[in-house]
Amino acid sequence: MRDRLPLIAGNWKMHKTPAEAREWCVGFRARLPEVPAGVEVVVCPPFTALEPVSGALQGHGAWVAAQTVSDQPSGPHTGEVSASMVFSCGARGTLLGHSERRAMGETDAMVAARVRVALASGLRTIICIGESLAQREAGVTVEVLAAQLASALAAVDPGEIDRVVVAYEPIWAIGTGRTATPDMAQEAIAGVRAAAANRLDANLLRILYGGSVTPATARELMAAPDIDGALVGGASLDPESFARIVEAAA
Ligand code: PGA
Repeated sequence: MRDRLPLIAGNWKMHKTPAEAREWCVGFRARLPEVPAGVEVVVCPPFTALEPVSGALQGHGAWVAAQTVSDQPSGPHTGEVSASMVFSCGARGTLLGHSERRAMGETDAMVAARVRVALASGLRTIICIGESLAQREAGVTVEVLAAQLASALAAVDPGEIDRVVVAYEPIWAIGTGRTATPDMAQEAIAGVRAAAANRLDANLLRILYGGSVTPATARELMAAPDIDGALVGGASLDPESFARIVEAAA
């Protein structure tokens, strides 16, 4: 029996105005009045909805995270938002290194710098890693994941492990409806856990699977011994389907 608490995270990406976000929270609370025992829930709205969602989920048990933060604490960085700013809007964590951001030019070094600033600002971090289809087909999945992980974890003090979560998201599975099979996800995540052991106590590290997770696939994925929850994109936009995924983890 694993003693890592399963985590279900909803990544809204660039969806929902503040009003739509509040409406989602009302629906989610009606459907799931409190977070069930045995699971942790986090919602990652856009910056502009962090404060409304934090307010609307007050007392519910789900916590709120940003989708990224700047690698700088403050200063002349037009368009950037700092870790302390999202904290002040109620966020207690942040996603970092999502493949959609890496595709826009975010490098391993930039992700590592963001990890450092986020942890120093008191945020928890959900560090996203994943291989492309070409990399998988070339047989270099393990090497790609290990390199992304090593760079990000170099920014983590082993004593900070309780504030770090890793999300394995194969790029070819994101938003495509092409979920990795539980066996594929388990194999990759077991490899990630083995690689993490170079840096910290990997038995304590929670590692999520992400990529087209739905209520239909969640339970089977999370039954795999190394999969400690899910990072859910599309299916998190609807409170009903997100609640069903939470229930599958509890
Ligand atoms: P998806 O997105 O569930 O829509 O595939 C997952 C993610 O990008 O975090």
